[in-house]
Amino acid sequence: MAVERTLAILKPDCVHKNLVGEVIRRIQDAGFSIRALRMVRLSKAEAEGFYAVHKEQPFFGDLTDFMSSGPCVLIVLEKQDAVSDFRLLIGATDPSQADAGTIRHDFAESKGQNIVHGSDSSKNGLSESNYFFADLEMVGNAD
Ligand code: RTP
Ligand code: MG
Repeated sequence: MAVERTLAILKPDCVHKNLVGEVIRRIQDAGFSIRALRMVRLSKAEAEGFYAVHKEQPFFGDLTDFMSSGPCVLIVLEKQDAVSDFRLLIGATDPSQADAGTIRHDFAESKGQNIVHGSDSSKNGLSESNYFFADLEMVGNAD
């Protein structure tokens, strides 16, 4: 059991639907600590850089168009087992497969527009946080 960092992105559909407060409430109620937070409009190139692991996928163009279509909220979160616990909180990629009570089940429209991103490994939690935030912008520690 280690304190981990994970990067959450409240995607453009989350911001557009005025769900930022509701989603952050759920994240904090689940015991995550916010270490950094910023609202941005990603450029297409920034979205492509962030999701570069998917660049060969057929959905890459749609994904990066969507992620650069409006403002997102970037949040660095910390908690014991943050990566796996955050993915449990958000639910499966496709909201029709997500468990009841998860963020994607409750709010997402589709696999493409699924409200929130979460890192998929401890290593990526750190590298994704560092993609958007300088060390000095990540404040405090886990307790
Ligand atoms: P994320 O990275 O955004 O947290 O999502 P994830 O791990 O649950 O899913 P991943 O496989 O990493 O896919 C990244 C995002 O690409 C979009 N996607 N669309 N149309 C499709 O078949 C498809 N597959 C993936 C989703 O928005 C997904 O969140
Ligand atoms: Mg992913």
